[in-house]
Amino acid sequence: MADSNFLTEHNARHVWHPMAHPAEMRANPPVIVSAGEGTEIIDIDGNRLLDGVGGLWNVNLGYSCDPVKQAITAQLNELPYYSAFRGTTNGPLIELSVALADFFAPDGMVRSFFTSGGSDSVETALRLARQFHKLNGQPERTKFVSLKKGYHGTHFGGASVNGNQNFRRAYEPLLPGTIHLAAPYTYRNPFNADDPKVLADCIVRQFADEIAFHGADTIAALIMEPVLGAGGVIVPHESLMPSMRALCDKHGILLIADEVITAFGRTGAWSGSRLWGVKPDLMCTAKAITNGYFPFGAVMIGSRVADVFEADRSAMGSIGHGYTYSGHPVGAAAAVACLAETVKRDLPANAAARGAELLAGLETLKGRYPLVGDVRGKGLMCAMELVSNRDDKSPASKDAVGKVYKGAYDAGVMVRTSGNNIILSPTLIITREDVARILEALEAGLKQASN
Ligand SMILES: Cc1ncc(COP(=O)(O)O)c(C=O)c1O
Repeated sequence: MADSNFLTEHNARHVWHPMAHPAEMRANPPVIVSAGEGTEIIDIDGNRLLDGVGGLWNVNLGYSCDPVKQAITAQLNELPYYSAFRGTTNGPLIELSVALADFFAPDGMVRSFFTSGGSDSVETALRLARQFHKLNGQPERTKFVSLKKGYHGTHFGGASVNGNQNFRRAYEPLLPGTIHLAAPYTYRNPFNADDPKVLADCIVRQFADEIAFHGADTIAALIMEPVLGAGGVIVPHESLMPSMRALCDKHGILLIADEVITAFGRTGAWSGSRLWGVKPDLMCTAKAITNGYFPFGAVMIGSRVADVFEADRSAMGSIGHGYTYSGHPVGAAAAVACLAETVKRDLPANAAARGAELLAGLETLKGRYPLVGDVRGKGLMCAMELVSNRDDKSPASKDAVGKVYKGAYDAGVMVRTSGNNIILSPTLIITREDVARILEALEAGLKQASN
C-alpha cells in the first residue's frame, strides 16, 4: 500500500466518486479511511471513529467478523471464481440457496437469484416481474408503481422508480410507465396529514386511484421499501404495507419489497416484510448479506412467481438476464458465513433495543435544539432532519449541516449527511455505551451549528 503522503496527494485527483460532484471532491477531498475494527473505523491521521454509518447500512456485524473473513479467504484458495451461467454452478452458491430459502421461508420466499449488489437486485426484480406477467398471459402488465422518496439504486429501471429528484433529473428521460405515489412522510406531504395512519390511508387511496386511472391490467408491480432509507429514514404506519399488499392482490399486481437495507435485522425484525407481517412476491436484498465484505446480492422469489416460471415450457420462460458475478463463489461463501453469524448473534434483538435508545436520545436532542425539526427511526435506521426555521420547516443550510457533521467527527463519531438529514445506521453490534457516544457527539455538532 502506498504511503499516506502519496494517498493524500492523489486523493480525488484521478477518480470520480459516486454520489458526489467531481469539482466539489477536488476542492474538498473525502476522508481517507484506513482501517476498521469492531464498531470503529480509523482515518488516515489515526483518528478512531465510532462508525454511525455502518459502512453504508451494510456492515451489520462490524469490521472484525472473523468467520466471514475466513470464509472469504478459504474460498479464494479453493475456487476464486467460476461462472454460474447455464451449465455450471458452485458449492457455496448451492449452500447459500438452501440457507436463504430457510431464512426467508417465513416471508414466503422459495427461490433465489444472485446479483452483485442492490441496484442489480432491483433491476432483476423489475425484469422478472414483467416476464412473470408475459408468462402468465398478461403481457400488457408492464408499468411500475413506487413511492416518492423511495430509493431503488441507480440502474435505469431503479432510477425510474426512484422517488427523489437528485437521482433522476440528470439522467432523464427515464423508463416510461412509472407511477409515483406520495411518501409516508408525515413531516411534509401534500395531504397535510401529520397522523401516520391518516397519511397511510391517503396513500392507499392514491394507489387505488392510479390503478383505476391506468387500468390494473397495465401494471406489473408495486416496488417499495418497508422502511424508506436513503430518502431520509421514513417509517410508514404499520397499516401501509399490508394495505398495499391487499390492493396488489385484488388487482393482480406483484409486490416487490426492496429490502436492500432492511433484510437481515436492521429494523429490529429479521426482514422489513416480516416487521409489517407482509409476504411480498419478490424481495431485493444485498448489502448486509455479506456484511459489506464482498459485493453481492440476492433477489428472493415467492412461490406465486416461482410456480409460473417453473411450470412454463416455452422459450419466454428462460431468464435472459444475469451478471458475470451472479452467484460468485467467494460472495456466496461470505453470505453463508454471514447469515450464520447474524442468526447466532440474534442481531435484530440488539438493533431493536439500541434503536429505541438512539431514537429516544434523538428526541431529547430535538427538545434542546431548534435546529432539529424532526427525528425518525425504526431499529438501527434513524434520521434527524435539520431545519433553519421550525415554523415553515425550511431546510437547514449546507453550512449548518456540515457543522453538525464536523462537530460529531471531531467528537469521535462518523455520521452521514444527506441533504438536510443526518442519517444514522451503525453496525448492529453496538452497545448502550456506543449509543451514548453517538448522542454526545451529535450534541457537540448541534452546539457548534447552533452558535
Ligand atoms: C433500498 C435500496 N435499494 C437499492 C439500493 C442500491 O444498492 P447498491 O448501492 O448496492 O446498488 C440501495 C442502496 O442504498 C437501497 O438502499
